[in-house]
Amino acid sequence: MRTILITGAAGFIGSNFVRILLRRGEPVRLIALDKLTYCGNLANLSDLVDNTRLIFIRGDICDAKLLSDLWQQYSIREVVHFAAESHVDRSILDSGPFIQTNVVGTQILLDTARANGIDRYLQISTDEVYGSLPEDRPDIKFTEQTPLAPNSPYSASKAAADCLVRAYFHTFHMPVLITRCSNNYGPYHFPEKMIPLFVTNLLEGKKVPLYGDGLNIRDWLYVEDHCDALWAVLNNGAPGETYNIGGNNEITNRQITELILRALNKSWDESVQYVKDRPGHDRRYAIDASKIHRDLNWTPKHRFEDALKTTIQWYVENEPWWRSIKTGEYLKYYETQYLRR
Ligand code: NAD
Ligand code: TYD
Repeated sequence: MRTILITGAAGFIGSNFVRILLRRGEPVRLIALDKLTYCGNLANLSDLVDNTRLIFIRGDICDAKLLSDLWQQYSIREVVHFAAESHVDRSILDSGPFIQTNVVGTQILLDTARANGIDRYLQISTDEVYGSLPEDRPDIKFTEQTPLAPNSPYSASKAAADCLVRAYFHTFHMPVLITRCSNNYGPYHFPEKMIPLFVTNLLEGKKVPLYGDGLNIRDWLYVEDHCDALWAVLNNGAPGETYNIGGNNEITNRQITELILRALNKSWDESVQYVKDRPGHDRRYAIDASKIHRDLNWTPKHRFEDALKTTIQWYVENEPWWRSIKTGEYLKYYETQYLRR
């Protein structure tokens, strides 16, 4: 039985990853470590609490003593590192927590793994470390050779973490892997990110705030496809390598907004509010995922239109989940972020 430390397991992608592995009956014991920050939510794992192969620990990846204790207690040999501050807009309001968790936290995790022994260390990174692509050059996409050029405090902190991971491979021969994925969507996505924010605002009868001209492009991938790719990389990736993961599905924010409005029977004029653009807003992301396809035979299984409908339906059916989030601290953030924009 493999014992894998999953950091950030109560977040969006981490909880989906844990659920997929346990539901499939993979022969794993998962040590789920999460600080439960504003976006970490034990409810994301509530259907799995009785599973004896899941051990949840509330704690901070910056706590070196806790990490060493976990290594000793559970004989950890593999790490999948999701834990991060992950929202670009919050990094513009205050970059401090991003440097602390994403950079310092990664360094502490790497040092603990090095001191205690490790067989596989998977760093979950993002396509945002590559910066922005021109919208009039659809032939250009991010490859693993594209130079790092982060534009937001969030992506800068993720790029710094990637550089540390790379350095621990070259200097200490640690068996590390890096993945860089495009924008995910799916169940349990915190409703400050575009898709769940727009869906839940519309379900509440509110408007959706579209930044700038709404023509920024993202390459969206269903979270289950991302998790499948991560499992393939953890099992069969070559140490020291980076793998891009993407949906080959470039779409503008306006187009996504139209699809969501249509699914919920809302009209553009009554529901969309253009708001001041995000500072430094990256124009276009697009992933060339040919390496992971060629080397690990991974390809996305879900069609965007279908999986988006499934996702919207999940938010319709799980109203208590998102309503319990959209209170307290969330409302204060919403006010700072949007009401004085
Ligand atoms: P999320 O914000 O939903 O979850 C992050 C989780 O990390 C939360 O549960 C939070 O409580 C936990 N956490 C934060 N600081 C911590 C700390 N110091 N110690 C322990 N736990 C801590 O994020 P997500 O969307 O699930 O993203 C997971 C990872 O995937 C991140 O590293 C992110 O950069 C990366 N990523 C996300 C996307 C996307 O579209 N969401 C795309 C590519 C890569
Ligand atoms: P987001 O979900 O924050 O992901 P990222 O910035 O990491 O790509 O945003 C996705 C796109 O949606 C991005 O171009 C910004 C835009 N956006 C809005 O137009 N309005 C919003 O309220 C938010 C949160 C995002």
